[in-house]
Amino acid sequence: MDLSTSTHAAAAREDTSELIEVEGDIDPSFDVPNQGKILVISNDQSYLTHGIHRFPAKFFPELPRYLIRKYSNKYEVVLDPMCGSGTSILEAMLNNRIAIGIDIDPIAHLITKVKTTPIDSISLSVARRILIKKIQELESKSDFHPNIPGFHYRDNWFRPFVIRELAIIHDCIENILSTNMHQDEWRSIGDFFRVILSSIIRDVSNADPHCTRTVLRKKVVKNISPGDAYSKFTERLIQQCVSMSDLYQISKTLEICDVRLPIGNAIETGLDDDSVDLGLTSPPYINAVDYPRTHQLEMYWLGLLGTGPLSHVKRKYIGTETVYKNEYNTLKTSGYETLDPVLEEIFNSDPRRSFIVFKFFKDMQQQLAEMYRVLKPGSMYCIAIGNNLIRGVEVRSNKILSEIATSAIGFRLERTFFSKLIRHFIRIPRPERMMGEWILILKK
Ligand SMILES: C[S@@+](CC[C@H](N)C(=O)[O-])C[C@H]1O[C@@H](n2cnc3c(N)ncnc32)[C@H](O)[C@@H]1O
Repeated sequence: MDLSTSTHAAAAREDTSELIEVEGDIDPSFDVPNQGKILVISNDQSYLTHGIHRFPAKFFPELPRYLIRKYSNKYEVVLDPMCGSGTSILEAMLNNRIAIGIDIDPIAHLITKVKTTPIDSISLSVARRILIKKIQELESKSDFHPNIPGFHYRDNWFRPFVIRELAIIHDCIENILSTNMHQDEWRSIGDFFRVILSSIIRDVSNADPHCTRTVLRKKVVKNISPGDAYSKFTERLIQQCVSMSDLYQISKTLEICDVRLPIGNAIETGLDDDSVDLGLTSPPYINAVDYPRTHQLEMYWLGLLGTGPLSHVKRKYIGTETVYKNEYNTLKTSGYETLDPVLEEIFNSDPRRSFIVFKFFKDMQQQLAEMYRVLKPGSMYCIAIGNNLIRGVEVRSNKILSEIATSAIGFRLERTFFSKLIRHFIRIPRPERMMGEWILILKK
């Protein structure tokens, strides 16, 4: 494919100051100039099952598709160690790679699983009809008492009629599953239904729809009426069954369909040394998205969390903001020249934030070391990372990660370019908003 004809490149010159505008697919033979800037206008971010569930700071599919095609071959192993909602995993699968996705977040793991598990259209439509019939049957029975999960502030997050509707949908899903549980296909169908249920929970809750984090605001009174949870669920279900059916049709044309989603985390993947042909990820942004808090309502409803506070779960996430006072009462330094001045400047106004930044890069150092271990010699690790402002101090994560990767781990920085963002489900106070992300191409 010729970039100039197929992708409407507005300016594809080797000039680092030019913005290269690309609509849709980027030709894998094209090299984005080192230090160059690219704006990818995504043709369809909800293609196939990509749109099954929203997720903060999701990749637009064209970027991982380009990196996968450029830096790996058919049948090779592609790993995303912080795969989030699985955009790169679905793209790897569609491009006949063996895809391995890891994420510490249970809802991310479930979404990725559903997104990459094709389900036979006929079985799905039979199951859907049974489910909708069952829901209609129970919603009209006022004396039916569904199982309602208990969790912190449940009755503040949801109105009573919404709780009942969600509980009935959840009960019906579990009920049809328990009668067919021995079959793998029904388990996949059950997970698909659970993800659809999860995808409407935020909409029917009282949480502020304009905030990535799950928060209640006195001024925000949402217009939610009885029956809304049922109608939103049914509407999403019908829509996503079409997407799943398309995925199923395409999956039959693939040469391999091999997706592995081990339970683990990015620092201890459990994978063998020298076993991966391409690594590809977008780590969390520091100070931007608190993933467990963002998905807490969905995880409570799906039974993916205990009923206790979230803090014990949060500590395990890279970029966590759950830190203890005794950890940040003195300035922590790293020995990296791109990082230490930043830590010191932030420490002067906010010691806690300074420690959060320190811990993020310390965790990322361990993650880079793990990736170096599992990658085959000569293969690439592509990282998309945004820079941000913390307490008015610019944290240039691309520079800091490059220094760590090259000076402490042994990677070589092959190329780096800036990818501008145009649409993102992420809301951060204006001055701290990221305008795009840097792509680092590291070579083992
Ligand atoms: C920016 S998101 C990835 C989004 C993804 N590229 C997509 O398209 O949906 C970063 C992810 O890192 C995950 N994460 C944070 N700490 C982790 C850890 N220790 N191990 C694995 N995943 C982790 C978060 O749960 C989150 O899903």
